[in-house]
Amino acid sequence: MSENEVRKNVPFLSVKDLVVEYKSDGQIVHAVNGVSLSLEKGKTLGLVGETGAGKTTIAKSILRILPDVGAKIAKGSISLDGKDVLNLPENEMRKIRGNVVSMIFQDPMTALNPVQKIGDQIAEVIRLHSDEYTDFEKRAKEMLEIVGIPAERYSEYPHQFSGGMKQRVIIAIALACNPTLLLADEPTTALDVTIQAQVMDLIVDLQKKYETALLLITHDMGVVATVCDDVAVIYAGNIVEYGTKEQIFDHPTHPYTIGLFGAIPDMNEDEIWLHPIEGLPPDPTNLPQGCAFSPRCKYAADECRKEPISVYKTPDGHDCRCCRINEISTQED
Ligand SMILES: Nc1ncnc2c1ncn2[C@@H]1O[C@H](COP(=O)(O)OP(=O)(O)OP(=O)(O)O)[C@@H](O)[C@H]1O
Ligand code: SF4
Ligand SMILES: [Mg+2]
Repeated sequence: MSENEVRKNVPFLSVKDLVVEYKSDGQIVHAVNGVSLSLEKGKTLGLVGETGAGKTTIAKSILRILPDVGAKIAKGSISLDGKDVLNLPENEMRKIRGNVVSMIFQDPMTALNPVQKIGDQIAEVIRLHSDEYTDFEKRAKEMLEIVGIPAERYSEYPHQFSGGMKQRVIIAIALACNPTLLLADEPTTALDVTIQAQVMDLIVDLQKKYETALLLITHDMGVVATVCDDVAVIYAGNIVEYGTKEQIFDHPTHPYTIGLFGAIPDMNEDEIWLHPIEGLPPDPTNLPQGCAFSPRCKYAADECRKEPISVYKTPDGHDCRCCRINEISTQED
């Protein structure tokens, strides 16, 4: 097999057994506890889970932008296009950030410099990260047009733009250097509900047009349903269910995933009440032994509270981190 053929079979992004800890007030926060995922060029993986599940920490680990003090990648590996990210020298990593991989942050409204023209902010990123473009202003204007902002607005300042327009500028910055991978961390949460769908559509259109791989971090199963190829459901720093969108939506198996679906209104059903998951996520400085979901799980049994739970295959072949999947499917029938 030629080197190119070998490459073809290797996913563009591969995260294996990632463990990340923070030190806070003398305690260890177990933020990510053995996460593995992969993503091919041009595909979209949705990473879904409640607040504090470790989603942003995973994205920051991929870009190696965790805080220098207090954060530690304790175990695991991350490979990008075959490169071992965790062992690359910092100057190599700088070439990857913004160019090969870029990120839309969770709170994008603070990501723009209020005293710099928006066009210059886009041009600056191109100057710093791209080998491809030499006329930075021209490329910045082109990006403005691509995200639906007239190029004539190049010299305006962030306060002259609405929230949705600012988010378009952020998207222009993130995509200006044609990244192969985009990490989008709740890219629409901070926006008005009325424009969330518009901005999401824009991200997806551009992602399809440029065949960018997209890791989409979200709380929102509705967004996942419209946008993603694959879905990873994360709970307390561990992926508890992982499969294609069809597998997860047609046959949700982990009690947590089933709970997430219970918390979403179904337009086709005449239901009066939603069923949110009872209880709260566990304290990451003191995770329960065995399955971290056990305090909230109505199927929990003694076997769930002993050892770390392995990943099992469901009947349709996707991954589920639950030792009682057979009992659960019998009870649900
Ligand atoms: N710099 C930090 N120092 C200490 N603890 C941190 C730090 N950053 C994150 N954490 C903790 O790590 C855990 C995972 O956080 P993370 O931000 O990755 O979660 P998340 O899934 O992105 O949540 P959200 O949906 O609220 O954005 C949380 O318990 C969080 O409080
Ligand atoms: S392992 Fe046990 S506690 Fe955890 S989700 Fe499965 S049944 Fe529930
Ligand atoms: Mg987050």
